[in-house]
Amino acid sequence: MKEGFYDLRSALDYLERKGELARVEGEVNWELELGTLTREVQRRKGPALRFGNIKDYNGEGARCRELATGIYGSMRRVALMLGFDDLQPNRAMIEHVLERNRTLIKPMIAKDGPVKQNVLTGRDINLYDFPVPKWHHLDGGRYIGTMACTVTKDPETNLTNVGLYRSMIVDQNRMSSLIVSSQGWGAHWAKYRAKGEPMPVAWVIGWDPVMEWVGGSPVPANVCEYEVMGGYRNAPVELVRCETVDLEVPASAEMVIEGSISPDPATFAPEGPFGEFTGYTAEIPTPRPVCKVSAIMHRDRPIFRGTLEGSLPGASGENSHMSAIQRAAIAWNILRTAGISGILDVYVHPVNNGTTVIVQIKKLYEGQPKQIAAALWGSNASTFRYKIVIVVDEDIDPSDYEAVDWAINYRVDPGSDDLVIFRGTLGSALDPSTPLENRRISELGAGLWNRLLIDATKTWRFPRRPEWNNEKFPPVGRNRPEDIEQVRRRWTDYGFTKWKVPF
Ligand SMILES: Cc1cc2nc3c(=O)[nH]c(=O)nc-3n(C[C@H](O)[C@H](O)[C@H](O)COP(=O)(O)O)c2cc1C
Repeated sequence: MKEGFYDLRSALDYLERKGELARVEGEVNWELELGTLTREVQRRKGPALRFGNIKDYNGEGARCRELATGIYGSMRRVALMLGFDDLQPNRAMIEHVLERNRTLIKPMIAKDGPVKQNVLTGRDINLYDFPVPKWHHLDGGRYIGTMACTVTKDPETNLTNVGLYRSMIVDQNRMSSLIVSSQGWGAHWAKYRAKGEPMPVAWVIGWDPVMEWVGGSPVPANVCEYEVMGGYRNAPVELVRCETVDLEVPASAEMVIEGSISPDPATFAPEGPFGEFTGYTAEIPTPRPVCKVSAIMHRDRPIFRGTLEGSLPGASGENSHMSAIQRAAIAWNILRTAGISGILDVYVHPVNNGTTVIVQIKKLYEGQPKQIAAALWGSNASTFRYKIVIVVDEDIDPSDYEAVDWAINYRVDPGSDDLVIFRGTLGSALDPSTPLENRRISELGAGLWNRLLIDATKTWRFPRRPEWNNEKFPPVGRNRPEDIEQVRRRWTDYGFTKWKVPF
């Protein structure tokens, strides 16, 4: 099992050796063309991409010429980044993630590191020196933070949080961000705001992709993500101190943007809209907190890292594939921690990023599906996820669309409490099906969601019926083994002519 990469470059080389990365050598425009091309590659289930000839960034003296995207854009690449040699079954990856999420190794602080090869301050700071794409045609600007790991510290406990949060370039030295209060940095931001002080922030762009994996996953607020990354790598993360803020970042990162976010609304600048993970561009430009950049550190010949957000049917990207494993693993952990037994599998389809989660159970009591939904909805990890919880019995493979569809059709009575709607819960402000008044983050702190449980297990409320073998549900019209055996024995006697299928 591979345990971590020294940096983004070694991860990209590894993907190339595994046939999972293509270099794009022809000129590509950062404005829309790069995003459009990436989506078309997704649609064709293509490789990760390393762009080396980006318009306006391919001339003499360009500070940053390369951009990498799509590292997590398929299940095989997720498996490779998690350390496996090849694609693994859903369950194996989830088990691995559950185990690594619990393994904590403290980071170490080094004096220096490659990220400090170039340190820019004052007038030398220019965010436009980096080939930041305008990813989608309706985006409000150039999104520099799409796979940027955002580092902040809790001003009371000094505990570090790392999360993936979007941010847009405002001008040469400012970026605006959507800060949701229920997220790790949102909690820190609330404390700084209460004190009337600016919040120091560092954005790490491009390092061992494990940082994106852990940063994009809801690690409990009392756990430092650097320790979880250490667990995945089976070695301490080597950090260096930032130049202008009291934060630590990986020593071999490609680039780090440092700065601080003022709580003064007069400093806010428009952010959005952005082609979000839902696949929709559902917002309008809104005044949001701004990070004033105080330094940029970067390696020689830095590689910019970004991702095309948005799941679309047939063309899902990195967040989708990451979420499919992470959000299933996190859901499993919530259910285990809540002490609910009988959980057999948890499945998330990449296209919904975990907005729907399907839980397969060995049903032990009638109230179990509701207990499962209550546990998931009670967790902070449900802010943007688990809007719809579907619970199925052990004979339904949760990853098999047909099987789940069949169970919903014939094990759900919509007039009974097989369907439960839990209204007005903490939820996603990015869901276009949510009325706008429930998406006012500045007033509500986070979005509000009406959530749905579909209990697609066979109900235990029916009486047992002698004609159904004393079961509560009628028997399924499957072939009996003895009848199948007879057909198998006679298979060649049937004289199939144009259809040769061995039995
Ligand atoms: C590619 C990617 C982009 C994301 N963008 C955002 C974002 O813009 N805003 C946000 O609140 N969460 C975003 N998330 C989800 C958060 O990273 C995730 O909820 C994570 O748990 C946040 O860390 P925290 O739990 O420490 O707050 C993104 C996740 C991924 C994988």
